[in-house]
Amino acid sequence: MAILALLQYYRLRIFVFFIRLLLIKRGPIPVAPDNVLQIPSRDQNRTIKAHIYRPIKAKTPSPVLINLHGSGFVLPVHGEDDFYCRYVSNNSTYTVFDVQYRLAPENPFPAPLHDVEDVVRYIQSRPDEYDASQMSIGGFSAGANLSLSASSMMLPRDTFRSVIAFYPPAEMAGLPENKTPPDASGHRIPPFLARTFDSAYFQNTDPCDPRISPFYAPAEQFPASMYIVTPAQDYLADEGAELAGRIRREGGGKYVLHKRVEGCGHGWDKHPKKGSHEERMREEAYQMAVEILKR
Ligand SMILES: *[C@@H]1O[C@H](CO)[C@@H](O)[C@H](O)[C@H]1NC(C)=O
Ligand SMILES: *[C@@H]1O[C@H](CO)[C@@H](O)[C@H](O)[C@H]1NC(C)=O
Ligand SMILES: *[C@@H]1O[C@H](CO)[C@@H](O)[C@H](O)[C@H]1NC(C)=O
Ligand SMILES: *[C@@H]1O[C@H](CO)[C@@H](O)[C@H](O)[C@H]1NC(C)=O
Repeated sequence: MAILALLQYYRLRIFVFFIRLLLIKRGPIPVAPDNVLQIPSRDQNRTIKAHIYRPIKAKTPSPVLINLHGSGFVLPVHGEDDFYCRYVSNNSTYTVFDVQYRLAPENPFPAPLHDVEDVVRYIQSRPDEYDASQMSIGGFSAGANLSLSASSMMLPRDTFRSVIAFYPPAEMAGLPENKTPPDASGHRIPPFLARTFDSAYFQNTDPCDPRISPFYAPAEQFPASMYIVTPAQDYLADEGAELAGRIRREGGGKYVLHKRVEGCGHGWDKHPKKGSHEERMREEAYQMAVEILKR
């Protein structure tokens, strides 16, 4: 059993090594945060990098949005949400922490969630700078999944005012090949890739564990407001919509906003062409994120 797990682990390591190599060839991701923080981790001699985006209309102490990028839990693409983070800090009083959480398979569940906890502690320990009573969390894809887990299962209830989840995988126990998008006209993530990435994250933990699958977390544990965005061409759209519906029904009066984005797929908002449908949908979806933060 232990040998099988070890073989599986090295298979993942090798696979992910090659995928990351492809990313390195694309070169560094251009980013323009206001500054870069190294936040102390619970592990000795380790810090967690965060890009900080400061609001134009600053308020002291500042409300905070923690953002977690998409990664399939394994891809080192921190910085990919630069536009979004700046959009939020431009249009609200929120300081955005874009956090470089640890990646699988080297650091499976719960490592990235521990990083989020450590960042939350850091923010809470600086009341002169940050207003921890106005802290929200959100992210994209795997980062959205981590935001849902962190806000419902890892940190005390009411740590976050709202959670923002762009195209989250919400239900890990189901097989990707058995899931279909509401609109099948787009291209889809190959199921084997999704499966490999998911298993890199939860490795030997039960995917039905509610800390991994927020889908199974009690509805009342989520923050008071939620914004879930599901692009219609994404095979994860149904589970995102279902999660939103369940929390609306069972959450005891939480504000749940579900936005279905027609004609777009997973990750549609990264680098849309100028003047395209995708760009207009990005503006709409991001504007609603700002509205949720202002609630
Ligand atoms: C941390 O760094 C210090 C100084 O470089 C070193 O002496 C110590 O062994 C390190 N601790 C760990 C756990 O790596
Ligand atoms: C943020 O505001 C600056 C200054 O007004 C502007 O140059 C920039 O394009 C804005 N960025 C976003 C993403 O809205
Ligand atoms: C996170 O993703 C995993 C894998 O797809 C899934 O099992 C889990 O339910 C998701 N968690 C949440 C909170 O949606
Ligand atoms: C947000 O700011 C950008 C420019 O930075 C602007 O184009 C956009 O309309 C603003 N949106 C809202 C909702 O204020």
